[in-house]
Order: sequence, then C-alpha cells, then structure tokens
Amino acid sequence: MASPSKDPDKTVSLRTERAKRAGAPETDGEPQPGYPATRLRRNRRADWSRRLVRENTLNIDDLIWPLFVIEGTNERQDVGTMPGVSRLSIDLAVEAAVEAASLGLPAIALFPHTDRALRDEAASQAFNPGNLVCRAVRAIKAEVPELGVICDVALDPYTSHGHDGLLVDDDVDNDRTLEALVTQALVQAEAGCDILAPSDMMDGRIGAIRSALEQNGFTQTQLLSYAAKYASAFYGPFRDAVGSSDQLRGDKKTYQMDPASGDEALREVALDVAEGADMVMVKPGLAYLDIVWRVKEAFKLPTFVYQTSGEYAMLVGAAERGWLDRDRVIMESLMACKRAGADAVFSYFAPEAARRLKDER
Ligand code: PBG
Repeated sequence: MASPSKDPDKTVSLRTERAKRAGAPETDGEPQPGYPATRLRRNRRADWSRRLVRENTLNIDDLIWPLFVIEGTNERQDVGTMPGVSRLSIDLAVEAAVEAASLGLPAIALFPHTDRALRDEAASQAFNPGNLVCRAVRAIKAEVPELGVICDVALDPYTSHGHDGLLVDDDVDNDRTLEALVTQALVQAEAGCDILAPSDMMDGRIGAIRSALEQNGFTQTQLLSYAAKYASAFYGPFRDAVGSSDQLRGDKKTYQMDPASGDEALREVALDVAEGADMVMVKPGLAYLDIVWRVKEAFKLPTFVYQTSGEYAMLVGAAERGWLDRDRVIMESLMACKRAGADAVFSYFAPEAARRLKDER
C-alpha cells in the first residue's frame, strides 16, 4: 500500500483534514483543499491574473473632493497643516469644480472659512442666504450643473466658540441647535445644494431637517448623515483650514462619539435611517474601518467614509520626508475604504487619485 505522502489524492485529503482541524476557511460550504492542491500564489503570479481575481475596485465614481472656500477674487491661501491643499475664493472654487467635473468626479463638498468678524455666539451667518457657502454653491451650480454639490450642516464655521451647536450655560444645547440647523439647511437647499450633510451629531437632527425640507418643497434634496462621527484628533488640520482650531472652547466629546465604542455607531445609523437619511457616513476613515464594515453589513445602505484631514496630513507628511511612497499609500488607503464596504470616500486626494485612475485605464 502506497504511503499517504506518495498518493497525491490522499495527500490532498489528509491536508484537507488537517486544514479543517486548523480551522481553515470553507468556501461555499466546501472545505478548501490544502497545499499543494491550493497554492494561492498561482493567481498572484501575473498582473493580468491579479486583475482578474481582484475582489474590489476603486473608481473615479467613488471619490468626493472636499474644498475650502474664502472671500475674495483670485485668492488662494495654503493650509499649513495640509500641504497641497488651499482655501479658494469662489471664482477659483468654480475653476476647481470645472476640473472635478472634467476628471469625472461625481461630487465636491464645500466648507467655508468665515471671516472672524462674522462669527458670533448665535452663528448668525449660517442663516444668511447670501453667506459665503451659499454664494459658492450658486456660482458652482450655475457653471457646472452636472456636478453634485454637498454642504455640511453644522454651526462650527460660524460660531465664535467653534462648537457645532449653540451654547446654553456652556453646554451645547441639543434642541435649540436643531432649530438653527433646520434654518441653515433650508438656506443651503434654497441655494441649490444637492446633498445636505449634517455633521454636528445632535440627536434628532435628521428627522427635523427632513420634515422641514418636505414642508418647504425640497423633496429631492438628499441627506447624507454623518451618522457615526467620532470625537477624533484626526480633524485637527481641518479646523485650521476653516479657522476654528483657535476658536474652539473645550472639545466635542458631548456630541461626537467616543472612539472606544462600536455598537453605538449602529444605533446612531439606525436612528438616522429611521429619520430619513438617504446615505450615511462614518468618520474618520482608516482608524474606523471596522465601523464602516459593520454599518454596511447591518444596513446595506449607501455608506460613505471620510478620509479626514489628519489622515491626509499623516500620509503627505511622511511622503514629503521620503518615508512613504506617496502614490502607493494614497491608492492603498482609498482601496482599504472600498474593501471595508464604503460606496464612496471623501478625500483631499480625490483629484490626484482620479488622475491616476485615468492614467491606468
Ligand atoms: C465640522 C466638520 C469637521 C469635519 C467635517 N465637518 C470637523 C469637526 O467636526 O470638528 C472634519 C473633516 C476633516 O478632518 O477632514 N462639523
């Protein structure tokens, strides 16, 4: 009788038994044969083969480009903590929007840098139909109507204390903030914003905004809820970009989520979906991809992820020192978001990644 190791069939089945005992994964209920029947390197040998078996793809259609806007004309200010990112006056933001559309990016997201003198306790500028972000939306939609425009709904660019809501006795008051967010949302919808993205993490804001939109005839305005947004240190450079870092009194831990919690993200998403969100977002990205995965698995809804300013700064900072390969870490970090289940990614790398994806075709 041939010894098991000389009989190839036998070898395979013995390996299979061993693989099973070792808890090897099963495919479609069938145990996967062990080595050498299975050599996972076979499929990896050639580029064409890797392309054939690849499980995920990153497309230009998956990318959203966040832009910072300022007053003025032909004005461009570099953001120190985000090398390569600038605040743009509206005319230059329109040019950027034209570029985004010509690259095939589906949408941009606008964030205003409000003049210090216009920020107050009540966030009054947020309700001004002629404020910076509303003028930017109008100018961009007039020039490139086919490009999706997303606006944050949150008060932090407008408050003198830097919080996303209104302060009452030093507490960010949930219900008073809701009324303010509703007014801000209507002003932005009126300006022509396609997707309103509440990013403030107040309880009940999706429901409040959705019913106000319906009552005011904005039945087609989409709501992208920053549903699971964590109280993260990765937003630091963004706060520099919108000029709120030195304004912020305290921190945002009473409304943004605790980085130690995961199940709670599912409760946040469930509520926002019940209140009328069309899409949900998890933020930050790379450090929270477990949350993206869980949200996508649980709800099967359009799920976006925000590759935050801090993630951008980390990668660019290391690449500038020659410590990381810039092109490769950009594409790898975006692909990781896709693999985790994201349908789209907000990324400051969007135009650069889009150019790369175009070149690869
Ligand atoms: C404001 C807002 C923040 C970001 C998007 N909208 C900052 C914050 O909540 O403090 C962060 C984006 C980034 O870091 O790139 N509500």
